[in-house]
Amino acid sequence: MTQPMEASMNSWPYPYWIAHRGAGKLAPENTLAAFRLGATHGHTCFECDVKLSRDGVPFLMHDGELARTTGQAGNGGDQDWSELAALDAGAWHSPAYAGEPLPTLERIASFIRSNGFTINLEIKPTPGVEALTGRVVAEHALRLWAGSSVPPLLSSFRPEALAAAKDAAPNLPRGLLMDHYWEGWADIAAQLGCVAIICNQRRLDADIAAQARSVAKRLLVYTVNEPSDVARMQTLGVDGIITDAVDRYPPR
Ligand code: G3P
Ligand code: MG
Repeated sequence: MTQPMEASMNSWPYPYWIAHRGAGKLAPENTLAAFRLGATHGHTCFECDVKLSRDGVPFLMHDGELARTTGQAGNGGDQDWSELAALDAGAWHSPAYAGEPLPTLERIASFIRSNGFTINLEIKPTPGVEALTGRVVAEHALRLWAGSSVPPLLSSFRPEALAAAKDAAPNLPRGLLMDHYWEGWADIAAQLGCVAIICNQRRLDADIAAQARSVAKRLLVYTVNEPSDVARMQTLGVDGIITDAVDRYPPR
């Protein structure tokens, strides 16, 4: 990176609107086609889910199992990249996207950087390899975003993954994802040096929002698609919204 990346992030470099899984539900999630569609709606910041193939290649997929988005049996993390690269991750969505491949993180980084976009990489480990996934994704992120003025925001529901990412790349910014508010979450977020708490909008209220802001400077929310929910989040003063509704909420 041209300047040392600051995990403390005094100035926030990410846009308010973040396109969930590339383009929400309008294109096959976590594919390059989705990112391209999100961009045609004016989005410049994207969220995606990153896991490891059996042979350690970071690639984009949400589920542990391959069935929903590729029609294949088994878990993504149990196959080598050479096998995963041959799968169709678009046909399940609609015929227009048939043949769309699962993308590597490297391919998505190339798209993001070539266009001057920014990204939130959600570390989505296969169960049992949380720390390994955090470390490898962080190492790849450091390499793939070298020289960039805006680093990827690394996030995870899994503190073990964020801890490993912190060890591997202490200056990459981190965000703790929260669905349910488990005991001790705020202390863990502080220990992990998180710059953001990223909350499920359905379980966010003013008390949680205040607590999140007391441990991390920024509060983001997922996945906010309905106007009434957007209004509620704006009343709570969130710093960013992850949305599937990339057509309803184009950032410009
Ligand atoms: O990163 C925000 C959001 O993507 C977390 O939930 O299940 O859609 O990955 P999920
Ligand atoms: Mg996600």
